[in-house]
Amino acid sequence: MIITVVGARPNFVKAAPIHSAFLKAGVQHEICHTGQHYDDAMARVFFEDLGMPKPVVDLGVGSGTHAEQTAAAMIGLERFLTAQRPRAVLVVGDVNSTLAASLVTAKLGIYTAHVEAGLRSGDWSMPEEVNRVVTDTLVDLLLTPSEDADRNLLAEGFSRDSIVQVGNVMIDALQQHLPAAKKLQMPERLGLRTGRYAVMTLHRPSNVDDPAVLGRILGAVARIASRVPVVFPVHPRTRAQASSAGLGDRLEKTAGLITMQPLGYLEFLSLTSAAQIVLTDSGGLQEESTVLGIPCLTLRENTERPVTITEGTSVLVGSDPEKIELEANRALDGESGAGRRVPRLWDGHASGRIVDAVLARLTDGK
Ligand code: UD1
Repeated sequence: MIITVVGARPNFVKAAPIHSAFLKAGVQHEICHTGQHYDDAMARVFFEDLGMPKPVVDLGVGSGTHAEQTAAAMIGLERFLTAQRPRAVLVVGDVNSTLAASLVTAKLGIYTAHVEAGLRSGDWSMPEEVNRVVTDTLVDLLLTPSEDADRNLLAEGFSRDSIVQVGNVMIDALQQHLPAAKKLQMPERLGLRTGRYAVMTLHRPSNVDDPAVLGRILGAVARIASRVPVVFPVHPRTRAQASSAGLGDRLEKTAGLITMQPLGYLEFLSLTSAAQIVLTDSGGLQEESTVLGIPCLTLRENTERPVTITEGTSVLVGSDPEKIELEANRALDGESGAGRRVPRLWDGHASGRIVDAVLARLTDGK
């Protein structure tokens, strides 16, 4: 048996095509959920939308500090994996559950592959950067989404042998589910005109935990919302921080800003695929916008996904309200986001290459 460990929303999207590809290859594959994300809207709906089976186990880790979350996931995973003894484990992305799983498998001596290896923002203040660097150090096989990731790993001294560029598995999910997502007609259901609205997501601690930063971003968003409707499914962390910072009213009462609970995968894809622009601090959405050809304002100072800038539609705007507004206006006026290319191997077939790479190593006895 091969097991993929997932914990948080972006992991589910990457695990779904991997699960299908293992089944297609006739290999028994199970999903182990740490339970880091536990709300129906953050977890269950993704399993349903993506056609994944229920996880074989949910370790019920839940929220907590980084140490609490990582430690709880490690304890649960150690017990579970010791009992299961899988032939191999796949860890995906850069969340605390990814780090926990790779620490456990390294010590249990279970062959482990990291999907989305090699991405680096160079920003050590991001918890995800710590998770990425440590995970890559611990695993046996580094499955990368793009050339820059290979270069990062080689520069850090990893051997060429341990790296396989497989492409971006999130795009497999996007391609598989785009037709069904479009059928949901989310823009129409919200009274929006196709190509005449913005979609926003925001959840990074650097943007939402400091009331001054969050307030400045919401100020810029209010000005953009006076030009086009801005649809904003609000992450639980962001809602909690906004309300404790006294910014709850700004979420509810800003003209043109349409807030709602987090959406499922298909509903959200239905919305983004027909948007005029995207504003986000999510890594996955930078990638999806690039493939959909929709200008993406990335509300970060740096990105571990530079190809979304050099080849795709993303532009870094940080949290400076003037820059956010300026770039939004440029994108709404059709002055940016043109000339995009879809990066190599972001072709909907990454999951097949992941399965091939893992099975080849297991047969080699490595
Ligand atoms: C995590 C990942 C981040 C990823 C994001 C996607 C880490 C370090 N971060 O951040 O890389 O981009 O998931 O969403 O692993 N909460 C709920 N219900 C849930 C989940 C979370 O209410 O189902 C709330 C809780 O108040 C929790 C907070 O959101 O404390 C943050 O959740 P957490 O899992 O710690 O990190 P995210 O910010 O979601």
